Amino acid sequence: MLSPKLRVAALVPIALGLVTYPESSRAALFASHADLPRGKKYDYIVVGAGPGGSVVASRLSENSSNNVLLIEAGPDDDGVLAIEVPLLATGLQPNTVYDWNYTTTPQPGLDGRDVVYPRGRVLGGSSSINLMIWTWSSQDDFNRYATVSGDNGWSWNAIEPYYKKIEQVVAPTDHHDTSNEINISIHGTNGPVNITTPNAPYPIDSRVNATLGELSDQYPYNRDMNSGNPLGVGWTQSTYGNGIRSSASSSYIRPFISRPNLDVLVNTVVTRVIKTGRDVLTGLPIFSGVEVAQSKTSSVFAINATKEVILSAGAINTPQLLLLSGIGSSSPLAALGISKVVDSPAVGQHLADHILVTNQFTIADPEDDLLENLTRNATFTNELLTEWVTSKQGQLGNGPSNHVGWLRVPEDEQTWTAAEDASAGPTSPHFELLFSPGFVSTLEAAPATGSFMTVISVLVSPSSTGSVTLASSSAFDSPLIDPAYLNTSFDTQVLRAAIRSGANFLTASAWDGFITGRSGSFVDVDLTSDEEVDAWARSQGTTIWHPTGTARMGSCTDKTSVVDPDLRVKGTKGLRVVDASVLPYIPAAHPQAVVYAFAERAASLIKAGRRYC
Ligand SMILES: Cc1cc2nc3c(=O)[nH]c(=O)nc-3n(C[C@H](O)[C@H](O)[C@H](O)COP(=O)(O)OP(=O)(O)OC[C@H]3O[C@@H](n4cnc5c(N)ncnc54)[C@H](O)[C@@H]3O)c2cc1C
Ligand SMILES: *[C@@H]1O[C@H](CO)[C@@H](O)[C@H](O)[C@H]1NC(C)=O
Ligand SMILES: *[C@@H]1O[C@H](CO)[C@@H](O)[C@H](O)[C@H]1NC(C)=O
Ligand SMILES: *[C@@H]1O[C@H](CO)[C@@H](O)[C@H](O)[C@H]1NC(C)=O
Ligand SMILES: *[C@@H]1O[C@H](CO)[C@@H](O)[C@H](O)[C@H]1NC(C)=O
Ligand SMILES: *[C@@H]1O[C@H](CO)[C@@H](O)[C@H](O)[C@H]1NC(C)=O
Ligand SMILES: *[C@@H]1O[C@H](CO)[C@@H](O)[C@H](O)[C@H]1NC(C)=O
Ligand SMILES: *[C@@H]1O[C@H](CO)[C@@H](O)[C@H](O)[C@H]1NC(C)=O
Ligand SMILES: *[C@@H]1O[C@H](CO)[C@@H](O)[C@H](O)[C@H]1NC(C)=O
Ligand SMILES: *[C@@H]1O[C@H](CO)[C@@H](O)[C@H](O)[C@H]1NC(C)=O
Repeated sequence: MLSPKLRVAALVPIALGLVTYPESSRAALFASHADLPRGKKYDYIVVGAGPGGSVVASRLSENSSNNVLLIEAGPDDDGVLAIEVPLLATGLQPNTVYDWNYTTTPQPGLDGRDVVYPRGRVLGGSSSINLMIWTWSSQDDFNRYATVSGDNGWSWNAIEPYYKKIEQVVAPTDHHDTSNEINISIHGTNGPVNITTPNAPYPIDSRVNATLGELSDQYPYNRDMNSGNPLGVGWTQSTYGNGIRSSASSSYIRPFISRPNLDVLVNTVVTRVIKTGRDVLTGLPIFSGVEVAQSKTSSVFAINATKEVILSAGAINTPQLLLLSGIGSSSPLAALGISKVVDSPAVGQHLADHILVTNQFTIADPEDDLLENLTRNATFTNELLTEWVTSKQGQLGNGPSNHVGWLRVPEDEQTWTAAEDASAGPTSPHFELLFSPGFVSTLEAAPATGSFMTVISVLVSPSSTGSVTLASSSAFDSPLIDPAYLNTSFDTQVLRAAIRSGANFLTASAWDGFITGRSGSFVDVDLTSDEEVDAWARSQGTTIWHPTGTARMGSCTDKTSVVDPDLRVKGTKGLRVVDASVLPYIPAAHPQAVVYAFAERAASLIKAGRRYC
């Protein structure tokens, strides 16, 4: 969300991966299908190495009887400095070698603008390029998953142990006392993904904290937002440890790459899944093969799994692959000459995403603006980079915001009907606030002079849903991505409240003399006018990169869903989806933790051979 501002000349070589560490030996990493061991049979083929696919491939290969092949379209992530150094993440997108470089369709809710739509394309998937915020979501979100699927195994109480299995809480690199920042007793201490609170303070931290004391009725302090009750403002927990990003690759794949039964194929695009037969008992089509290619013009090659294909290509590419394989609604497939094999109208539908608005304020003291220091002063940046390289310490070990707030619109300000409220329940927030020490925007370059801080307002309980549909019959072309931002009056009202709440936060006396005004076109917005705030939201709104729901899970009998509670694709044999696509509602949280948790449970279900329906 900080780019393009951090993509200044000094950082570009780093961001593009030109600065790398020496590569460790990668026994079972292959760059082409032609290099795969001849004659080897794979029990499971997993497509996509984000949190969904990496967890499943890693857990299934714990059993040495399972031969697992993990296929990833993008390159290896090993030794890429910009992936490892947390704050350099902002230079990893958009439009880099680690990005699919997507753009949405023009959005009627955003004055007809289209929105740049980054997705990770590298080992680790989007967890290798994301901003690392680690939030478990609310208990109501999970309990809604249990209700809609009819499977209590997706409830908060049932999922909590999986979170503990994923995590290892480590100390921040400055070793400050975190006892008031995180409640260790609810976290995991032995899992593969390292998490911690910020490694170094930001200049605005103490004022954010003081505001929580001063305006505690509106912004209560939450000591640990991952307890199932996220409401309030607290310290950010992030997927880094010892100053280094923990991605799905560095936590679940790289440590296990030498397993003889785990092969990882990078730089290889799966172009569709293949029907390999029909089940004799049920007559259902079996989809246990994949077709792969290195480029749009290269020849395709088929690989079969003896047991299952697991699609984990993420919320944009998984529905694309299902549609390319003839799993979807008939007429759009027919229009592209794809023959329908399974009628599944919900494929690609129900796309939900979070929309953010960056609100920039001017501040009095240049010393408090870390991000402008980084982008304007190469000497300063190099000092911080040297500190990171030599000791893994300092502010480059942080994410973009040291505090996160999760809030509900107060009941007396709710102008919608109860039926319109899209949040999962009283423990689920309507909106989020993030606080960054500098000028943050994905739409505008930072001004050349002046000092800033930014409050980011995010709509996390949207009722608008859009779609992913095919633009062509090639996996190498972008699908049509339509998040349908701000399509409902509920969404517009919540985002309006979120923008006002962010500005209100800065009226606490803790900010007196610190904040001097607002920046750019935000100066002219009359925050008391609904029309002006809504116009500001339409002009600034953009993605916070959280697409979900395009192959949603539903109960055994639900016809509006794509996968069943085991995450098997309905109407097929041998095919599952394990990634952000299956979430039936978007969590009111940064979703990577939810995807890791779904993938951990999915791996357990696959290993146990469970059949719920
Ligand atoms: C810039 C950015 C910032 C974010 N910040 C945060 C954050 O701070 N906190 C948070 O919780 N979430 C964040 N997210 C979201 C989070 O990273 C995703 O929700 C999560 O990674 C989804 O996991 P996934 O396994 O569903 O898909 P992904 O992580 O997207 O992985 C899908 C993988 O499949 C591969 N793939 C796709 N198609 C094919 C194909 N045809 N053949 C082979 N491979 C294929 C892709 O290259 C990719 O590696 C962010 C995302 C982005 C893009
Ligand atoms: C490992 O997998 C094999 C083959 O699926 C199965 O028979 C065996 O029970 C599994 N082992 C364990 C320890 O789960
Ligand atoms: C995305 O854009 C970058 C920069 O132009 C390019 O190097 C990369 O190959 C593109 N990614 C894809 C998937 O086309
Ligand atoms: C920490 O979590 C435990 C377990 O839920 C809880 O009992 C305890 O009250 C929490 N401590 C604080 C200070 O919130
Ligand atoms: C945060 O504020 C509380 C009082 O509200 C105070 O006790 C605590 O020391 C502050 N922490 C930091 C890091 O400033
Ligand atoms: C997590 O931290 C531990 C030690 O604190 C380290 O050994 C391990 O490599 C780290 N894992 C990742 C994925 O960075
Ligand atoms: C995959 O399975 C199908 C159906 O059994 C078969 O026709 C095809 O030859 C197999 N492909 C490979 C590469 O084994
Ligand atoms: C910004 O740079 C100045 C001068 O180098 C330094 O004194 C100040 O502490 C820096 N500010 C931050 C927030 O790092
Ligand atoms: C740039 O950073 C260096 C190192 O921190 C500092 O000495 C110098 O004063 C800074 N320059 C400006 C113009 O702030
Ligand atoms: C909502 O979406 C529908 C269907 O795409 C579209 O016709 C309508 O214009 C949208 N409304 C708003 C306010 O975006």
